[in-house]
Amino acid sequence: MGQKPITFLRQVTALCLYPELLNDNKFPDDAKQKAMRILQACGGNSIGSYSASQGIEIIRQDVAKYIETRDGGIRSNPDDIYLSTGASDSIVTMLKLLVAGQGNARTGVMIPIPQYPLYSAALAELGAVQVNYYLDEENCWALDITELRRALEEARKHCNPKVLCIINPGNPTGQVQSRKCIEDVIRFAAEENLFLMADEVYQDNVYAKGCAFHSFKKVLFEMGPKYSDVVELASFHSTSKGFMGECGFRGGYMEVVNMDPAVKQQLTKLVSVRLCPPVPGQALLDVVVNPPQPGDPSYKEFIAEKQAVLGNLAEKARLTEEILNQAPGIQCNPVQGAMYSFPRIEMPERAIKLAQAEGQAPDMFFCMKLLEETGICVVPGSGFGQREGTHHFRMTILPPTEKLKILLERLKDFHQKFVQEYS
Ligand SMILES: Cc1ncc(COP(=O)(O)O)c(C=O)c1O
Repeated sequence: MGQKPITFLRQVTALCLYPELLNDNKFPDDAKQKAMRILQACGGNSIGSYSASQGIEIIRQDVAKYIETRDGGIRSNPDDIYLSTGASDSIVTMLKLLVAGQGNARTGVMIPIPQYPLYSAALAELGAVQVNYYLDEENCWALDITELRRALEEARKHCNPKVLCIINPGNPTGQVQSRKCIEDVIRFAAEENLFLMADEVYQDNVYAKGCAFHSFKKVLFEMGPKYSDVVELASFHSTSKGFMGECGFRGGYMEVVNMDPAVKQQLTKLVSVRLCPPVPGQALLDVVVNPPQPGDPSYKEFIAEKQAVLGNLAEKARLTEEILNQAPGIQCNPVQGAMYSFPRIEMPERAIKLAQAEGQAPDMFFCMKLLEETGICVVPGSGFGQREGTHHFRMTILPPTEKLKILLERLKDFHQKFVQEYS
């Protein structure tokens, strides 16, 4: 998508991969120091060795410090940190750990609809029961506790719901949860004895005025021991998103809170089956959680690059909402965070019938026509789940600004033409 890698991240990883470069004076001293510290923590001082299954110890310590700073000093224990092969790996591992039982006792896992398909796919693979709770489109895709309660009560008739998954900021819906909403979810999880899984991979991607990222961990601890001593939580982060966008490195971590020590032992055993997360991904994660500080040689360049990426994404989030909402049959909620919009589209009755005749979901029909006529590729809403009778597509806000503007204008014109043609 044309996003330039952040120089400091690549300098440190390059030095780790090819330590000969430590003698090259093109590299700044702080990048060299960081690389040497990482290498010294690797077996045989090489990034090519296996690491501990839970991840390199100093990197887990750096992650814990990062979490403490992010959460205003609330303690984080490096023993509760598990480094991972991206967030996908730790999410699947956690689900594997939690899913059990047969028949009506089979574990139910509550997931938002629309959802990121990793969840439905992992649940299908594990044979767990997917319990859908619908986000409130009319209210900017907010999470509604009444809807959570409805979904839970329904599910209890045929399975054993034990896990509640939250994606904040949301994919594909781009909403950012309010602090009040997070408190309500935590209270609900405490009352209903649910294990919380908080997917927070977009924690740096918050754009809308008045919105801020609140981690589940921070809110949980600020609610006091009545909750922070009992609610079990796993939260997930990744090097794939944020200002980094380094998804190919496959770096990430999970923090577990209040997990029964015997269960935690099983978790550690489970992650050790796959030996360790890629060490270059761990090194990259270390730089993300422990970046240059004021006064360091690379600080200014690092901050300037980070702010440029995030500022640019914020501008594209605004543009996407603005241009799509100019089209009469498209309704797009504000892209408050993450990297996507999930607009609702009007579909003429005839197009719906034709799609059905072809055995396609109506929004798939729309997306295929769009692709064939304009070359623009978006994903049908049916792939993420949506309320019966509504139609959506998901698009990322990632293309370069000038290209995105053209793309949005073409999409808008195409929809208008599509409605006319099939009305
Ligand atoms: C909500 C959400 N969770 C997890 C992931 C997986 O990220 P990773 O690359 O860290 O595995 C994604 C990727 O798009 C995502 O959108």
